Amino acid sequence: MPIHALRPTELDPIERASRDEIAALQLARLRETLAHVYANVPHYRRAFDEKGVHPSDLRTLADLAKFPFTGKGDLRANYPFGMFAVPREQVVRVHASSGTTGKPTVVGYTRSDIDHWANLVARSLRAAGVRKGDMVHVAYGYGLFTGGLGAHYGAERLGCTVVPMSGGQTEKQVQLIQDFKPDAIMVTPSYMQVICEEFRRQGLDPREMSVRVGIFGAEPWTEAMRRDIQQAADIDAVDIYGLSEVMGPGVASECVETQDGPVIWEDHFYPEIIDPETGAVLPDGEEGELVFTTLTKQAFPVIRYRTRDLTRLLPPTARSMRRMGKIVGRSDDMLIIRGVNLFPTQIEEIVLAHGALGGQYQLVVTRDGLLDKVEVLCELLPTHAGSDPGAVGRDLQERIKTLTGVSTAVRVGMPDSIERTLVGKARRVVDQRKKS
Ligand code: DLL
Repeated sequence: MPIHALRPTELDPIERASRDEIAALQLARLRETLAHVYANVPHYRRAFDEKGVHPSDLRTLADLAKFPFTGKGDLRANYPFGMFAVPREQVVRVHASSGTTGKPTVVGYTRSDIDHWANLVARSLRAAGVRKGDMVHVAYGYGLFTGGLGAHYGAERLGCTVVPMSGGQTEKQVQLIQDFKPDAIMVTPSYMQVICEEFRRQGLDPREMSVRVGIFGAEPWTEAMRRDIQQAADIDAVDIYGLSEVMGPGVASECVETQDGPVIWEDHFYPEIIDPETGAVLPDGEEGELVFTTLTKQAFPVIRYRTRDLTRLLPPTARSMRRMGKIVGRSDDMLIIRGVNLFPTQIEEIVLAHGALGGQYQLVVTRDGLLDKVEVLCELLPTHAGSDPGAVGRDLQERIKTLTGVSTAVRVGMPDSIERTLVGKARRVVDQRKKS
């Protein structure tokens, strides 16, 4: 079923406002946010004072560059509630992101923060072509992770019937999709692939499923992966971006009619792209680290929060707000192999372009003396189970070398030989360097 774009009259006024109107709103909200954190969060008062800046120094949006960055370390140092800008009693919910090491990052929301969040996820769903009355299957995890509850409140806000399935229990996912016939699914792209595999395992054709659009995010995924999922399930696949420190899912989300990168909901978040080395603000279009300042959050505002996500800011298309390019990777995930930078997403593109291979892959990084080594694990598609894994592996190794300049070892396994991530984000890099 074709999905139609919203008519201009159906958009929120801000979704079709002029750039000047958006900038004026951002400036007013930015001023309020800076004053709010300066008055209520000791960390920000100290950090501003140390840099010799005061909220009243912000006269234009560009003045934000004078203010200090906030990083994950600042949040950890103020664990658990030190960054809250309202009394704890006004916080109606907390979420936390696990992090791979140390303490989790705790974030909080007032009633009004939850309300804005629900509105923005509802706006994101509408952009994806979901409408009031549709049924939405939520397979993002519920709990401290923002994915499940964030998606849930937004879908309810839009007026959808929500199926709060959460992650895991793949057979049951398929059963509920078959029996309830949802119109949309919200899930990580890697788990969507697992759900499609489960359909086929049960002798069902995933292209027959009722779902017409998937809203995928929480982990980097490529255009190749988009094509793979769209074909496998005969759906539209759109990209939803977010992070707990800034809100959760719905900081930015893609329009189904253009599929040209998530629109950043600029009335609530002010984006910057910086050079990760120097911290200098880069012009739109240049690739660097994405930095966000929240414009309306009460409980947990962040000023110039460094996401570590690498992307670019792109001009508005289907909406009046700017877009972001697909996330290339996180600076934490970037591997440097004999001096060459390598992101898992580059390998994903190459693996998926190979006709004999499925979409599951992993990079195992080890250290051999002083040199880092990468082994790419991937697997044959069930339809190519008879192919020679050695020959396919040599072919892939050559393509990777040609396209990225990196020499890797490649191990091609039989279908289903790579461990699937059933709950949470796919683990694409297995780093064994510390142990070896
Ligand atoms: O992953 C929030 C979310 C849930 C977004 C569901 C979309 C859908 P965190 O667990 O705090 O929050 O992880 C945030 O995940 O900094 C990115 O590195 C990555 N990420 C999130 N969405 C995307 C996306 C949620 N669409 C971190 N593309 C972010 C690429 C994404 N990476």
